[in-house]
Amino acid sequence: MSTSTGRPSILISRSLPAEAITRARARAEVDVNEADAPLPRKELIRRLQGRQGLVCMISEAVDEELLAACPDLKVASNVAVGFNNIDVTAATKRGVVVTNTPDVLTETTADFAWTLLMAIARRVVEADRYVRDGKFDQWKNMLLLGGDIHGKTLGIVGFGRIGRAMARRAQGFGMRVLYQDAVAADPATERELRASRTDIATLLKESDFVTLHTPLLPETRHLINAQSLKTMKKTAYLINASRGPVVNETALAQALTEGWIAGAGIDVFEDEPKVHPGLMGLTNVVLAPHIGSASSDTRLQMANLAVDNCLAVLEGRTPPTPVNAEALARR
Ligand code: DGY
Repeated sequence: MSTSTGRPSILISRSLPAEAITRARARAEVDVNEADAPLPRKELIRRLQGRQGLVCMISEAVDEELLAACPDLKVASNVAVGFNNIDVTAATKRGVVVTNTPDVLTETTADFAWTLLMAIARRVVEADRYVRDGKFDQWKNMLLLGGDIHGKTLGIVGFGRIGRAMARRAQGFGMRVLYQDAVAADPATERELRASRTDIATLLKESDFVTLHTPLLPETRHLINAQSLKTMKKTAYLINASRGPVVNETALAQALTEGWIAGAGIDVFEDEPKVHPGLMGLTNVVLAPHIGSASSDTRLQMANLAVDNCLAVLEGRTPPTPVNAEALARR
């Protein structure tokens, strides 16, 4: 869609904070799906045709079909750090720049993963329900006993930005920190975060809390499965605020039901928004609807960064946070 103003044309696939939309409208012609729900696939493709920019979310699959149907597209700007909804290889082949929103959500996401960790260990959701159900009739010595956090071992799977932010939080709790990552952190970082690199088997065996911060890749799909859950301590907790398919949810439901581990805090699901029915009735799991980065400030920063990425590409500048530098190089 060439615009009479000569300005680029962008589709924003679902509602964003008003400030970010205004930011986009200042420099481009913008079509926004105002609903906080994904557009039906056909409508998404129809509304994207002829446009050069897409600001999208994890609910939109940007795949070969969409790219082929929208040959004018130059940039797919994800409002998320994770970009497993985008076929980056296909985009790169077509010269479409892909961008994401790292950094701005690191601390907020770590805050929430830590919230899940504390909530499940100290049984906050059960306690809240207990009070609301009118069961709090007297103080009891053995009521709602949970697991300690301070002084325990935290195992971090994926030692990128968010994994490291978890390690920083662990220091305040006097925890021992283990991490597993394909790439070792530099010695100064390991010293500063008092973190030791180990293999996944050792991490699972020795940790009291296992927290997942790895991207979803073919090699991390079902990284946590029946076998790995059986390796964990019976008193251990699993936290997942990364991507649902990193955990085999059927195995997790079985592990929690049969007491292979003590509990879990889960923000992401294998087949979102569906949740494995085996998890729904359990009290030893805290469930959240993928809200790791959902603070007002952070969601605004993510939206602004996504808009800036999109505009930068369309205006011939280098976007702040590209994913496929190869596509940029080919422009
Ligand atoms: C991300 O940024 O990848 C989150 O999961 C979506 O907010």
